[in-house]
Amino acid sequence: MELTYRPRRLRRTPALRAMVREHHLSATDFIYPLFVHEGATNEPIGAMPGAMRWSLEGLVQEVGRAWDLGIRCVVLFPKVADGLKTEDGAESFNEGGLIPRAIRRLKEMHPEMAIMTDVALDPYSCDGHDGIVSEEGEVLNDETVSILCRQAVAQARAGADLIGPSDMMDGRVGAIREALDEEGFEHIGIISYTAKYSSAYYGPFREALDSAPRVGAGKPVPNDKSTYQMDPANGRESLTEALLDEQEGADILMVKPGLAYLDIIYRLRGETELPIAAYNVSGEYAMVKAAAEKGWIDERAVVLETLLCFKRAGANLILTYHACDAAQWLSKG
Ligand code: PBG
Repeated sequence: MELTYRPRRLRRTPALRAMVREHHLSATDFIYPLFVHEGATNEPIGAMPGAMRWSLEGLVQEVGRAWDLGIRCVVLFPKVADGLKTEDGAESFNEGGLIPRAIRRLKEMHPEMAIMTDVALDPYSCDGHDGIVSEEGEVLNDETVSILCRQAVAQARAGADLIGPSDMMDGRVGAIREALDEEGFEHIGIISYTAKYSSAYYGPFREALDSAPRVGAGKPVPNDKSTYQMDPANGRESLTEALLDEQEGADILMVKPGLAYLDIIYRLRGETELPIAAYNVSGEYAMVKAAAEKGWIDERAVVLETLLCFKRAGANLILTYHACDAAQWLSKG
């Protein structure tokens, strides 16, 4: 054939392919999500093989391991005892609570590791919702935002570097920004869960924290989060959320889940100059782990391909439970 263009010319050798490669993965792209509980031992999580509910000391060790692998940011999630869960989630702003203690301990042992937190009431709510549920079964926006502000300030006081509101209440980024500034934390950033969808992919995470909505006695608790998390059918709406978060002072925008929502990452990339994070969520992790356990896929190859595709779609940062494994694979070349 007489072809002018033969795209295969640049795919012919590893050296040529490396020269024209558009995207690269590195351990500093990752934010490593970690679960912590009050127990003295580390507890495996059924649907998330390899992930743990860490004891405080286990957490310190795991963060040290992550640092040595080149990871520079972790995000912490608490498994809170049932006895501490209330309708208003007040434990969320207890400065002696599990998360503030974990942050202080980590800052003592690994002062350079960046610590991101999660701001939402679900681990602290006896109703299992990110906000306060009224007697009529409505998730209250403004009342919730004032509690989230107290939670964010308690986390900043303990030493958090990045505050991550995952609750999807309206106006929370601006309110948290103002609360942080008033308390002298104007230097602490907000990584906002901007386009967070009402997704079935969060199942294993809710098992890990025992935080799924609970249809309690006496009031009509909604059994899903669709009055505040976004409808998976909606793409354009993510641009509205992004615009609002940026106006309200978010420093980083996040899309969640990641894999089924690569188009949302790509759309936001075209609309903002802020860094974009993708959350490779628990259900995505569970699917890969289950297929790998059965020997149906090559775990290493699938994970590295998936993470690279988040970068190609336009993400700068990736929250992933695979962070340590991927960092290890990358360092071995
Ligand atoms: C809590 C929160 C959730 C996740 C992160 N923060 C669960 C939810 O919104 O129900 C999910 C993370 C994952 O599935 O890996 N607001």
